[in-house]
Amino acid sequence: MEKLEFPEGFLWGAATSAHQIEGDNHNDWSEWEKSPERIAQLKKEGKDPADFISGKACDSYHRYREDFDIAKELGHNVHRFSIEWSRIEPEEGKFDEREMEHYKTLITDLRERGIEPMVTLWHFTNPVWFAKKGGFLSERSPQYFTRYVKYVVDNLCDRVGLWITFNEPSSVYGGFSYLLGQWPPQKKSFFKYLRVQNNFIRAHTLAYRQIKKIYAAIPPVRPGSSSTSHNIRAQVGWAENYRYPVVPWYLRWLGSIFTYFRFLRFLKKTAPYQDFIGLNYYTIARLPGSYDVLPRQAAVSIMGWEIYPYGIFHVLKSVAKFKKPVYITENGIADASDERRLKFIKDHLRWIHGSIAHGVDVRGYIYWSLLDNFEWSHGFGPRFGLAEIDFKTFKRTVRPSALEYAHICRNNMLEY
Ligand code: NOJ
Repeated sequence: MEKLEFPEGFLWGAATSAHQIEGDNHNDWSEWEKSPERIAQLKKEGKDPADFISGKACDSYHRYREDFDIAKELGHNVHRFSIEWSRIEPEEGKFDEREMEHYKTLITDLRERGIEPMVTLWHFTNPVWFAKKGGFLSERSPQYFTRYVKYVVDNLCDRVGLWITFNEPSSVYGGFSYLLGQWPPQKKSFFKYLRVQNNFIRAHTLAYRQIKKIYAAIPPVRPGSSSTSHNIRAQVGWAENYRYPVVPWYLRWLGSIFTYFRFLRFLKKTAPYQDFIGLNYYTIARLPGSYDVLPRQAAVSIMGWEIYPYGIFHVLKSVAKFKKPVYITENGIADASDERRLKFIKDHLRWIHGSIAHGVDVRGYIYWSLLDNFEWSHGFGPRFGLAEIDFKTFKRTVRPSALEYAHICRNNMLEY
């Protein structure tokens, strides 16, 4: 058994997102979940629509303290979660101070438990008014988004340092909503996909500058001063879903196109406006002829994703050329029985450790997810949580693998 130590100050934790856990959100997704077309489609597939409506989700809007207690008990020192734009700006230009207070208190409660917040500003959902204007297809979307970001960051700059503007804008949201047309707004078109990507890139750039401007105006807290405010500087990035592309040599050009549109284009264009790279990794991407290169993996999760931990080493090495710190902002497995979760975590951590040994500047590991939650178009079926949720009673039960992961977090070390 080897003892693999992680760098000092390494961040350990878990992630969630607002729509997946809070409950009672009103946004373009909640509208879509209940739309007659969606219900009809689910019935046609023989599914119970109730399992695909986020509804009260984990009721974390009210129970977040319980969630944070779990994170603390599990030795986490970072927690990634998202702020729901539709709560903060339910009507165009009208900001809801009460909801802002909610998030302020939530972050204070998190910090009181010794946990660093990592705040995602957009995680797939849009306010209804924004969606009606065309969402990220609208030319003005970067300005709308930045106005919301300004309001939030003005309010939270004294208590948050780690910001993520967008979660998986290119690969997952762009892919499902615009390339495949399966997620709202179900607009299938490559040109629309590109337009949305360009608007995301502009929005990220504007938001980055806005956030930096806000922090630059805060006078630093002088040593010995009695001020209770934190002397925090902002680090801003965005999180993308990276897959290890498996492709035969004669289709390398196809692999390059795939990688370019999946994340490289976005990374290159926003490179000057990223303090870190947020990397979500779950599985590989197969291109035609891939089975000759890599046989089908024996371990496949219920999402149908082949488990291939070496892939995280490969993608980490491939983003290292950007010379930025990297946070693993998501990595996880849907595993209701909890029989495979610990191995999944350990195998990936081993390769992450390997990449650090090869010079990649990885600063943290954030497991997806702290809780079982609403897995978008898959509904409540997939169970990614370190804690199991009973969706009738909202009872949280910590899974055994979470306790083992807690040892790793506390010791900053993996025994492998
Ligand atoms: C990535 C997304 O950010 C998150 O919302 C989702 O639940 C997980 N992957 C698992 O699919």
